Amino acid sequence: MQQQSIFVLFLVLAGIATIVFTYIFISSKKAAAEEKGMSNPLKKRFWFSLILFVILTIFITATIPKSPYYLFADETPARVIHVSAIQFQFILSEKAIDPENPSGESHIELPINELVEFRVTSLDVNHGFALYDSSNRLITQVQAMPGYVNRLRHKFKDPGEYKILCLEYCGMAHQVMRSSFMVN
Ligand code: CUA
Repeated sequence: MQQQSIFVLFLVLAGIATIVFTYIFISSKKAAAEEKGMSNPLKKRFWFSLILFVILTIFITATIPKSPYYLFADETPARVIHVSAIQFQFILSEKAIDPENPSGESHIELPINELVEFRVTSLDVNHGFALYDSSNRLITQVQAMPGYVNRLRHKFKDPGEYKILCLEYCGMAHQVMRSSFMVN
């Protein structure tokens, strides 16, 4: 439902942007044609650019705080899970993972409605760390990058088995790179 409304909102905004850019394109052609009457189309273009700028600024300001990297910024996570991506598996652990000798826990259980923080890195190439709910819907994701630890915070609202899939092409066996955990 939420994904659908975001998609409709995207279509509406893309439509508005298309109309504005078409108008600017047509008016700039007109301006080129009539060399004398330059001031009017230029004025119109200025106002359209300003309106577009204001719309985009409002949209970005309203949506950025809802991105997973800003959500729960002031809260202390109830659980921290360390994640090391490596061709072609995800290693998950409650404790920090030794890059020289990476090992993790095969079964991870996470609490429902509590803040969980994943600290995600990679031990070789770039991978994607993407979480899917039991209906195979993508709920959140972050890049797994060598040399960086990216924090992904999330509150799971539904119990069940969640899947982790790699969302970045990382080699021949990219498509089998997956893992899972339980939320209850
Ligand atoms: Cu790891 Cu694709």
